[in-house]
Amino acid sequence: MKEDKQSRREFVKQSSLLAGGLVAAPFLSHAGGYFNSVDDTIKIALVGCGGRGTGAAMQAMLTKQNVKLVAMADAFRDRLDSAYAALTDENSEEGNVKAKVAVPEANKFVGFDAYQKAIALADVVILTTPPGFRPIHFEEAIRQGKHVFMEKPVATDPAGIQRVLRAAEEAKKKKLNVVVGLQRHYQNSYRELFKRVKDGMIGEITSGQVWWNNDGVWVNMRKPGQTEMEYQMRNWYYFNWLCGDHINEQHIHNLDVMNWFKGDYPVKAFGLGGRQVRTGKEYGEIYDHHYVEYHYADGTILNSQCRHIKGTYAIVDEMFVGTKGVVKCGAAEITNKGKALYKYDRKNENNPYQTEHDELFAAIAKGEYKFADAENGAKSTLTAIMGRMATYSGQVIEWDKALNSGLSIMPTTFAWDADMPVKPDANGFYPVATPGVTRYFS
Ligand SMILES: NC(=O)c1ccc[n+]([C@@H]2O[C@H](COP(=O)([O-])OP(=O)(O)OC[C@H]3O[C@@H](n4cnc5c(N)ncnc54)[C@H](O)[C@@H]3O)[C@@H](O)[C@H]2O)c1
Repeated sequence: MKEDKQSRREFVKQSSLLAGGLVAAPFLSHAGGYFNSVDDTIKIALVGCGGRGTGAAMQAMLTKQNVKLVAMADAFRDRLDSAYAALTDENSEEGNVKAKVAVPEANKFVGFDAYQKAIALADVVILTTPPGFRPIHFEEAIRQGKHVFMEKPVATDPAGIQRVLRAAEEAKKKKLNVVVGLQRHYQNSYRELFKRVKDGMIGEITSGQVWWNNDGVWVNMRKPGQTEMEYQMRNWYYFNWLCGDHINEQHIHNLDVMNWFKGDYPVKAFGLGGRQVRTGKEYGEIYDHHYVEYHYADGTILNSQCRHIKGTYAIVDEMFVGTKGVVKCGAAEITNKGKALYKYDRKNENNPYQTEHDELFAAIAKGEYKFADAENGAKSTLTAIMGRMATYSGQVIEWDKALNSGLSIMPTTFAWDADMPVKPDANGFYPVATPGVTRYFS
């Protein structure tokens, strides 16, 4: 225990030195906050105080480590307040973490620059805003020398992916742990299946199918008095600069498993998509279905479908066919011509949302550098973005071309009265991509 404490102090110190490029005495006051750490408390800042942010902060505080939530940041005060109320609720079903919440009024930050101030006060940062902001926030967290838990997806456009990849490199140099909330990597059944697939139980993967088909998610209707920026931020799911379409926001989980089990990333994609029922103005610009073929360098084609349409067949799962067998992730089994080769025992299943925090905070407390998830997070996000570009345009989208396009769909300024990259017409409808008309490359 004593050794652990000692090594964490050194690790924290070392990370800060690398981060700031400084040679400094221990406990020297520093904007990054590390040198103030005269005790072993791991200080956490939460950036993005919505549903997942509240859950992730709760899970961080339910780890065995000596952690404290010291700062919170959100674009909106009401969101920050409801997260604070949930995290200090002694009767919360998830657990009572009130004693670990130490966020005075002065450490509650609101607005577009709130993240910088909250990050400065912490050792570990939880980034859980809508994904459009992730590259900006991740870059800043790494610049300030902080360990990171960030939710998927990690961007909404190729320019954002490039920023995350650059910051991921920087994080490696600074030995900053980064966990991305692609929690299947932290789920026991997936880990056991992957081990066997990697060891050759199904041979070479030659085809496969991944799905995220269900009803869809919440809608926040426009309210009188909202600026266009506020409306889009409140109803973020339906605007690509914030969300990246549901192929990015949800289906990324399955696309990520596809890349993970295949052991590679696709070289090109093409597919079909549209919005058949999601036609109202409240649905902004995103589609309600996409079907994409992902082609890998060895010629393998893996298929992806995602749909948000009520009353249709619902399935969220992955299945891969190999030369010697088939793996079905949802059923957690491996078979060959109907004969069971392996069946995962469900009684050993864990809560992967908790495990990702348990493992991250244990590593930080021990002074270990163990997690570098950002590069894979960026590449799985690019897989989803490529799929969107393919369905929106009806063209073949190549990995290298998409990545190097530098395409940005983000606003150029962040302010409540900012000029927006997408605007409604006189009737409140937004432009929607049309295959054959929408083009990314000439
Ligand atoms: N891994 C998973 O299974 C899982 C599950 C749910 C959500 N998520 C991910 O978590 C992220 C958040 O989703 P959510 O469901 O919590 O959404 P949410 O709308 O409940 O929360 C997002 C919060 O971020 C705030 N925000 C927006 N822009 C901000 C900015 N620039 N600075 C600070 N705060 C800002 C919003 O006001 C809101 O409070 C998304 O990327 C989503 O894909 C992952």
